[in-house]
Amino acid sequence: MDKFLIRGGKALRGTVKVSGAKNSALPAMAAALLTAEPVKLHNVPKVRDLITMSKLLAFIGARVSVTELPAGDYLIEARALNDAEAPYDLVKTMRASILTLGPLMARAGVARVSLPGGCAIGARPVDLHLSALEKMGAEIVTSHGYIEAKVHGNGSRGRRLKGAHIVFEKITVTGTENILMAAALAEGETILENAAREPEVTDLAEMLRKMGAQISGDGSSTLRIRGVEKLHGTEHSVIPDRIEAGTFLLAGAITGGDLTIANCVPEHLGAVVAKMEQTGVPMEIVDKTTIRVRRAKKLAASDMTTEEYPGFATDMQAQYMALATQAEGTSAITETICENRYLHASEMMRMGAHISVEGRRAVVRGPAALSGTTVQTSDLRASAGLVLAGLVASGETIIDRVYHIDRGYEGIVEKLRGVGANIERIHGPGPETKQSALTAAR
Ligand code: UD1
Repeated sequence: MDKFLIRGGKALRGTVKVSGAKNSALPAMAAALLTAEPVKLHNVPKVRDLITMSKLLAFIGARVSVTELPAGDYLIEARALNDAEAPYDLVKTMRASILTLGPLMARAGVARVSLPGGCAIGARPVDLHLSALEKMGAEIVTSHGYIEAKVHGNGSRGRRLKGAHIVFEKITVTGTENILMAAALAEGETILENAAREPEVTDLAEMLRKMGAQISGDGSSTLRIRGVEKLHGTEHSVIPDRIEAGTFLLAGAITGGDLTIANCVPEHLGAVVAKMEQTGVPMEIVDKTTIRVRRAKKLAASDMTTEEYPGFATDMQAQYMALATQAEGTSAITETICENRYLHASEMMRMGAHISVEGRRAVVRGPAALSGTTVQTSDLRASAGLVLAGLVASGETIIDRVYHIDRGYEGIVEKLRGVGANIERIHGPGPETKQSALTAAR
């Protein structure tokens, strides 16, 4: 398995370009199952999760071509679905495989999707996806580790889901996306309340509208979807990755550099930018796609609570913890979205950080002089937090099990090297895809 070797202490300078959003590309690929016509996607990042999604679509019967196309372009054609099944082997490595459930139910009237199961960062059930589909007329049983769903009535194939009034008990991003896709081809109107407002949901709604769907309210917590009988092919460019952009923002701040982050949407980074301002990091929104971050005279501690969009993203929590280790004073971090998402804290402590964790709260006392050592990663975003800690630590930091980071960050080593970081990938023996169900996270 590959590792990263980082020699910390280099301030990052220059311009780094953000790739397309993994969390937008995943539902966009799943949405291609809703039509028999070709769907062309642009700005798809080269990350492992999207390769997994391609394999899943191919298993289901879609033709996915990537190789002959320019980088970042995918052509997906799901003329006929030969198997409405998402098997365990693929689902276990990527929880977002659940995104095939809504489109399969809408298009085929049946679906068999492996239950995603636990992951390193918490239980993360899919009960809300299932109860919403049941309201839309799905009959669902879970047996032998699989969700087996069919549209109520005889001979489900070809039968349509029915529009319904759904109120999510809790905000769920992929749950909202699944219901958006299912409702797009359902009979009648669906109203979804307490829906996720993440930019990735809006991006999916925009793509579905281009395919002929009738959706309004995206970006707010109430979505209205009037089902249509058929959707057609489209061409769509996925939005820039706000988590990758935020990670680079914090990388610039933690190393005290002068970093310009290009190809991003500053508007999607409101909570991160506001938090950076509270810590004293100078930032400039250069234009609609560019932010510049510079060295803070003094990095001040600031409390942070993760929230659904437009709040501070849970996917940026580990990176913020790394920054908090360098800030003067005490920062209390409260994780409200995911249980058990502090696995990186103990690794940062091994590097010399002063952190205490109690339940969903972590208290970070800074500044601490971090020193490099070998650290283990537990999930995708924890890895990003540890990379940031390594960039500021003295000596050598070895980040083990980087397959986690490869799931969601395109060319992170090359991008960081391009702006002056001393980081390299050490290729190790063993299959890079080796990943247990227990560690498969987001
Ligand atoms: C998505 C993102 C992930 C991000 C997360 C929260 C993708 C592919 N992944 O994951 O990067 O960290 O949103 O912003 O877009 N929950 C339930 N029942 C359900 C569904 C969710 O209890 O049926 C709970 C989860 O356990 C979790 C919370 O709701 O505590 C939010 O989860 P959710 O928004 O569904 O996360 P994902 O969509 O899986």
